[in-house]
Amino acid sequence: MGAALRKLDKTLVLVGLMGCGKSSVGKRLAARLGVGFVDTDDEIVQAAGMPIPEIFQRLGEPAFRDGEAKVISRLLEGAPGVMATGGGAFMAPMVRAEIERVGISVWLRADLDTLWERVRGKSGRPLLETENPKNVLAELMAARYPQYAAADIVIDSHMDNSHETVVDDIMRALAGFNAVKDTEKDTDK
Ligand code: S3P
Repeated sequence: MGAALRKLDKTLVLVGLMGCGKSSVGKRLAARLGVGFVDTDDEIVQAAGMPIPEIFQRLGEPAFRDGEAKVISRLLEGAPGVMATGGGAFMAPMVRAEIERVGISVWLRADLDTLWERVRGKSGRPLLETENPKNVLAELMAARYPQYAAADIVIDSHMDNSHETVVDDIMRALAGFNAVKDTEKDTDK
């Protein structure tokens, strides 16, 4: 028997609200699958040469969304891997359509307390720089969850579950998509 090698044939795109665990889970999922990981927020920051709050402040949110769409489009052309997107990315119909066309979207669905627990006291998220950030999160849940629900795979992410548990859940769900194929090493046959 040859050693089983896993081959991913579509990029897995993690979507969901700030704090749902896209980056932490994404890194672990990529390691499990032996593929590359990319965080679109990091790519935007690199391309713009400034952090996200500064992009929002100096260039405005529309410019950020524009850059986000371009970065995602470029990254989707690359080799299949795992991609964590910013919470607003899946809201843009064109971005959503492109992800649907070439990738497999995975929504990490989380309740308000889980999201709040993970984002509270952390800086770098301009949409939460308000008097009542927990309220903003609740409003974003109401506005965005109907769109996130269009994702190919929906996985619950709860603060009591470890990121590895969430990765296990995604791996199980992926089996139904036939996106990960076990192949045999030629030399071992
Ligand atoms: C945003 C989420 C952030 C980042 C930006 C806007 C949003 O990413 O893209 O601050 O609109 O929800 P994370 O979801 O990774 O925090």
